[in-house]
Amino acid sequence: MQRAPFPRPVSPTISVLLFLLLPLGPAWRVVTQRCPQACLCDNSRGRVACQHHNLTEVPDAIPELTQRLDLQGNMLKAIPPAAFQDLPHLTHLDLRHCGLELVAEGAFRGLGRLLLLNLASNRLRALPQEALGGLGSLRRLELEGNLLEELRPGAFEALGALVTLNLAHNALVYLPAMVFQGLVRTRWLQLSHNALSVLAPEALAGLPALRRLSLHHNELQALPGAALSQARGLARLELGHNPLTYVGEEDELVLPTLRELRLDHGALQALGPRAFAHCPRLHTLDLRANQLDTLPPLQGPGRLGSLRLQGNPLWCGCQARPLLQWLVRARVRSDGTCQGPRRLRGEALDTLRPSDLRCPGDGVEEGEEEELAAARPRAPPSTPQDEEGAAWPCPRACLCAAATRHSSCERRGLQAVPRGFPNDTQLLDLRQNHFASLPPAAFPGLGRLVSLHLQHCSIRELEAGALAGLGSLIYLYLSDNQLSSLSTAALEGAPRLGYLYLERNLFARVPGAALHALPSLFSLHLQDNSVGRLAPGDLAGGRALRWLYLSGNRIVHVSPGALDPVLELEKLHLDRNQLREVPTRALEGLPALSELRLAGNPLKALRDGAFRPVGHSLQQLFLNSSDLEQISAGAFSGLGPRLHSLHLQRNQLKTLPALSGLGQLQLIDLGGNPFRCDCQLLPLHRWLTGLNLEAGATCATPPSARGQKVKAAAAAFGACPGWATRKAKRTLAHRWDARIPVKVGKERGRL
Ligand SMILES: *[C@@H]1O[C@H](CO)[C@@H](O)[C@H](O)[C@H]1NC(C)=O
Ligand SMILES: *[C@@H]1O[C@H](CO)[C@@H](O)[C@H](O)[C@H]1NC(C)=O
Ligand SMILES: *[C@@H]1O[C@H](CO)[C@@H](O)[C@H](O)[C@H]1NC(C)=O
Repeated sequence: MQRAPFPRPVSPTISVLLFLLLPLGPAWRVVTQRCPQACLCDNSRGRVACQHHNLTEVPDAIPELTQRLDLQGNMLKAIPPAAFQDLPHLTHLDLRHCGLELVAEGAFRGLGRLLLLNLASNRLRALPQEALGGLGSLRRLELEGNLLEELRPGAFEALGALVTLNLAHNALVYLPAMVFQGLVRTRWLQLSHNALSVLAPEALAGLPALRRLSLHHNELQALPGAALSQARGLARLELGHNPLTYVGEEDELVLPTLRELRLDHGALQALGPRAFAHCPRLHTLDLRANQLDTLPPLQGPGRLGSLRLQGNPLWCGCQARPLLQWLVRARVRSDGTCQGPRRLRGEALDTLRPSDLRCPGDGVEEGEEEELAAARPRAPPSTPQDEEGAAWPCPRACLCAAATRHSSCERRGLQAVPRGFPNDTQLLDLRQNHFASLPPAAFPGLGRLVSLHLQHCSIRELEAGALAGLGSLIYLYLSDNQLSSLSTAALEGAPRLGYLYLERNLFARVPGAALHALPSLFSLHLQDNSVGRLAPGDLAGGRALRWLYLSGNRIVHVSPGALDPVLELEKLHLDRNQLREVPTRALEGLPALSELRLAGNPLKALRDGAFRPVGHSLQQLFLNSSDLEQISAGAFSGLGPRLHSLHLQRNQLKTLPALSGLGQLQLIDLGGNPFRCDCQLLPLHRWLTGLNLEAGATCATPPSARGQKVKAAAAAFGACPGWATRKAKRTLAHRWDARIPVKVGKERGRL
C-alpha cells in the first residue's frame, strides 16, 4: 500500500539527469526500473532515499537490488517482523528520526549482508530478545539518542561481526551481567550520557576485542574495577563526568594494555598511590576538574607521560613535595596549577622547585594551615551499605523488573505513591498519575533509588521530608506538574541529587531555599515557568551548580550578585525571557561560564564590554532573535580566546562592526539580518572575506546588492574609500585567517 503524500515529481528529473551522465545502456535500464513514490532511486548505485516523507510504513516496490536505503525522518513508529525480507542486498539502512517505539522480534530477518544499521534518535525503550536476529554481518549499530532504560542479556547475541556499538544518550541505569555476550569482534562500545550507576561484575564479560570503552557522563560513584577488568584488552577508557570520589588499589582495576584513562570532571577527593598499579602501560591520565588538593606519587604505571591536573584545587605546601619530585624523576608532564597557599596561587606546579613547597615551621607565614583547612572540600556523603538482598514483591499496579532494578507504574491512575517496591529498585517510574501532594517519606525503603520519574502527576506540593531516605537519588523528574514553590525542607533526604527537573511548573521564583538541601546539585531545569527575576539569595543553595536552565520564563532583571553563589556555573540559559539588556554585572563572578544563551529577549542593543566578565571562558554565545538593531564597536571586547560559536541570526542588524578579536570562531550565524551594504559595512565585508566560514550575512539594501552575500558583494564596496589601498593587506589577512580552523581541528582531534 502506498501512503506517500506526494506524487512523484522527482524520479523523472533524476532519470533525465542519469540519462545525461551515464552511457546509454545502463541509463535505459534505470528508467525502466521500479521506484516507490516518495523515494529517489539511483538504481545504478543501488541507492534509494525516501527521507522526510512522513511515511508510516516501509514502502513496497523498493528495487530488490538496493544496497543503501535511507528512511530517516519518517513516522514509522514500529518495525514489524521481516520488514525488509525482500531486500537481501541491503548493506546500509538508515532509520534515524523515525519515531520508532518498537522493533519487533525478527524485524531485520533476511538482512544477512547489512553492515550499518542506524536506529539513532528514536523512542525505543527496550530491545526484544530477538530484535536484532539475522544481522550476522553487521559492523556498526547506532542506537544513540533513544530511551533505552534496560538491556537484556543476549540482546546483541547475534551480532558476531559488530565492531562499533553506540548506546550513548539513552537512559540506562544498570548493566546486567553478560549483557554484551556474543560481541566477539566489538572494538568500541559507547555508553556515555546514560545514568549508569552500577555495572554488574560480569557486565563486560564476553568482549574479547574491546579496545575503547566510553562511559563518560554517567552516575558511577565508585570505580567498577572488577567489571572493567573483564575487558582485558582495553587501550582507552573514558570515565570522565562521573561522580567518583575516590580511586584506590582496592577498586581492582587490572588492565594490562590500558594506555589512556580519563577520569576528568568527577568528584575525586583522593587517589590511592597504587590505584593504577595494575595498569603498567598507562601513558595518559586525565584527572582534570576534580577536587584533588594533592596526589601521591603513583606506583606502577611506569610509562606515564602525561598527567592532566588542571582544574583541581592543588595545595602547593610541603605535602606536595613527593608529588613534584616524582613528576620530575619519572618525567611526567603535568599541567596543574596551585590553588594555594596564597603566595603560590596560580603558579604552574611543574615550574616550582621542591624548596618552594613549604609548610608552617619551614618559615612561612602563619595561617596557611587554616587556609588549607578552609580550602578542602566537604567530605562526601557516606555510601549506602552494599548488601545483597532478595527483592520484595511488587505493588499490584506496577511492574518490577528484577534484572534491571526498574519499577514502573506509569499512567495507572494512582492517587498515592504505592508501597512495597523491591528495596534494590534503582529506577522508579511513576509518570502520569495524580498525586496532588507528596507526603513526608513518600518513598520508604528505596535507599538505592537513583532515578525517580514523577512527570505529569498534577503535583502541587512536596511536603517537608517527602524525599526522606533517598540517599542514592541522582535524578528527580518533576516536570509538567503544578508546583509553585518548594519549602526549605521539601528536598531534604536526597543529598546526592545531581539533576533536578522542574520544567513547565508554576514557579514565579527560583526555589532557592530548598536548594540548600542539595549540596551536589549539578543541573537545574526551570524552563517554561513564570520566574520574573533573579535576585541575590535565589541561588544561595546551589553552590555546586554547573548548568542552569531558565529559558522561557518572564525574567526582566538579573540583579548583580544574584549569580555569585554559583561559582562553577558553565551553562546559563536565559533565552526566551524579557531581558532588555545583557546582565553584564551579574556575570561577574562566573569564571567558568562557557555557554550563555540570551536569544529571544528584547535586547535591541549591545553596549561596549557587555560580555567582558566572562570573556575568558565563554565558548558559545546565543543572541539570535533578540531584536538587535545596534551593536557597538566594543560590544564583544574581551571575548575571543575561547569563543567558538556566535549566533546573531534573525535580528534587525543593518550594520555590524568587524569582529576582529574572534579568531577561534568555528561557527558564526549572521543570517536573517537586513544588512545595508554600503561603505559603513566595509570592515565587516573585509573581515568576512578573510574568514574561512560561511556566516550567512546577506545584503538587503541597496537594491542593487539585495540578495548578495555580504562576503561576495565586491561591487557594493568597490567604490569605498580605502578599498584599493588595502586590498594587498586583505590578501595577507585572508591567508592568515584561513589557517585558523585547521589548527582548531587538530587540537580537537587530539583531545
Ligand atoms: C510531514 O508532516 C508535517 C506535519 O504534519 C508537515 O508539516 C510536513 O509538510 C509533512 N512533510 C511531508 C514531506 O509531507
Ligand atoms: C532488602 O530486603 C531484604 C528482605 O526483604 C533484606 O534481607 C535486605 O537486607 C534488604 N536490603 C536493603 C539494602 O535494605
Ligand atoms: C537561537 O539559535 C539556536 C541555534 O540555531 C536555536 O536552537 C534556538 O532555538 C534559537 N533561539 C531562539 C529564541 O530563536
